[in-house]
Amino acid sequence: MSKILFAGSSDPKTAKRLARKAKIKFGKTLIKKFSCGETYLELGEEVKGNTVYIYQTSFEKPDEIIMETILMVNAAKEGKAKKVILISPYLLYARQDKKTSSKRIEPISSKVLARLYKASGVDKILTFHIHSRKALSFYNIEILNLKLFNSFAREIKKEIKEKSDFVVVAPDEGALENAQKLAEFLGVSNVCFFEKKREDPKKKTNKISSSRFFGNVRNKNVILADDMVDTGGTIVHIKEKLNDLGAKKVMLVFVHAVFSGEGRSRIENGGFCNIFFSNSIPLKTKFKNAKIIDIVPEISKYL
Ligand code: R5P
Repeated sequence: MSKILFAGSSDPKTAKRLARKAKIKFGKTLIKKFSCGETYLELGEEVKGNTVYIYQTSFEKPDEIIMETILMVNAAKEGKAKKVILISPYLLYARQDKKTSSKRIEPISSKVLARLYKASGVDKILTFHIHSRKALSFYNIEILNLKLFNSFAREIKKEIKEKSDFVVVAPDEGALENAQKLAEFLGVSNVCFFEKKREDPKKKTNKISSSRFFGNVRNKNVILADDMVDTGGTIVHIKEKLNDLGAKKVMLVFVHAVFSGEGRSRIENGGFCNIFFSNSIPLKTKFKNAKIIDIVPEISKYL
């Protein structure tokens, strides 16, 4: 029995590097669009009896990526693969893990995706820093939620001279557990957090309406840590609050660069002294002033 890794169209470059690092075969894939917009795909290697890894993350059109992923998984199953393991460094739809109001008729989209992956034949998932425990609980298959604290801490430490000058700040309560873990890895004892309220999603998605702060950052340097930056709304709002609260320099650390709308430029021009994020989602062009943490060494340990 051998192992083969196939890449979806989201990030074949990282997938290829991963296969090389893990010393497993990188399989050929043919992905085309019919003129009506439907996807056709083909796995170009024998998969019978093998462990098949499918590398797919988010890029541009997430819903198309999901369809492509489940077709790839099913192709591997049709080809009688022994096991199909989805490597999804950024797990899509994880933020939609609850209904926004009991008065609305809505899906729990994260649960829907978990069911879809299982139904298509995924046996196991490897991912990084899934958004919430709730989203994780919807996966009724084996799922490894890998963390990058060690890799982030190694790089951040290079920028810290005196640990007691620093405070790790979580931009909301959901980010607090990871902020505390990061602080442990950094040896920083001070952790503070904001309580964030979003506007009614019916009015304007991703917009913050208010936030309350618990802690003290006056005359301190801040390491602001979140799981992702999407539109950048959260981080820009929190950065302004930190300035008002008397923080000195602010370093930004996050795992997933979702970057929709103005997200990327807001962060690039946000006045952060350092920016660290991972390549769980590929960038279209080079990002200035950021240290990109490579996920490949960490995932390769599990292949
Ligand atoms: C929210 O709970 C997440 O942890 C992120 O803070 C959020 O999704 C980032 O989105 P945006 O950049 O659009 O504010």
